[in-house]
Amino acid sequence: MFRVWPFPPNPGTSPDASPALCAGSSHLGGMRPNPQQKWRPLWGPTEVTEKARGSKIIMALDVPCARAQELVRSSSDLISHYKIGPVLWFEWGAACLAFFRDCGAKLMIDFKFHDIPNTVKESIGALMRSPGSEAIWAVTLHSSGGYTMLKNAVMERDRHAAGSRPKLLGVTVLTSLEERDLYRIGINRAVPAQVKKLAMLAQDAGLDGVVASGHEIGTVRKACGEDFEIFVPGVRLQANPQKDLDQKRVMTPAQALREGASYVIAGRDLYGAENVRDQINVMIGAMGLGRR
Ligand code: C5P
Repeated sequence: MFRVWPFPPNPGTSPDASPALCAGSSHLGGMRPNPQQKWRPLWGPTEVTEKARGSKIIMALDVPCARAQELVRSSSDLISHYKIGPVLWFEWGAACLAFFRDCGAKLMIDFKFHDIPNTVKESIGALMRSPGSEAIWAVTLHSSGGYTMLKNAVMERDRHAAGSRPKLLGVTVLTSLEERDLYRIGINRAVPAQVKKLAMLAQDAGLDGVVASGHEIGTVRKACGEDFEIFVPGVRLQANPQKDLDQKRVMTPAQALREGASYVIAGRDLYGAENVRDQINVMIGAMGLGRR
């Protein structure tokens, strides 16, 4: 049976909370050993283990700046990976990178670049020159931008090899689309076939992986092999069609992991919860990441 105790204290509320900027900014993850604690977990230091448990989860921060900071501070001892896109960037700007760097976070920049090759190349270069870019762990591009655009992005990323080497991920078919949406934009192909085509193109151009729904993991694995990474958004602990009007190809995080997802991306399911820490722990438990 998966044991859920002890969860670390909420760094925002505990008197033991680390004064550091973020809960996870030290290797102790904002937690201190409790001398009153009569027993220890069997598997070693709680601080390391708790964080390792959330290592497959990327929290999407489609929220304003102050809320994003609050979310990171209160969760960075449980998870390391965060995803940001235009929602946060338009308010906070490139200065947000230094915040994530100082928190020791791994940051997925989800701008889904789709432009002419030179513009994408220059955008990647500008991003990698920004102060705090050490935090950037992954960057997304639309695979449908074409081979030359993808290849240019890879070459530009590799040109900055002295710094961090972010993964480049090709977005295949958005999880908000289904087959009839593809027909309306002139793609007369079933979703898995289109995802496969775009995944193979991304791999040919030298990308590290793709973003696809849980339903196409098997197709991508078969076409691109085990080493190619698959990032899966559109995960839901429970289906809620009333609330969820945009995502179409959804799956539970546990199922996505079983299918072979490298990471799952969760936004509203986490940051929309009343208690985000509890919800992260529920997700970790549901994914079996606590089991050893
Ligand atoms: O709130 P929710 O969990 O639906 O958020 C999913 C996140 O993943 C959003 O930030 C969205 O932009 C992103 N995403 C997606 N589908 C893709 C690629 C990225 O939902 N194919």
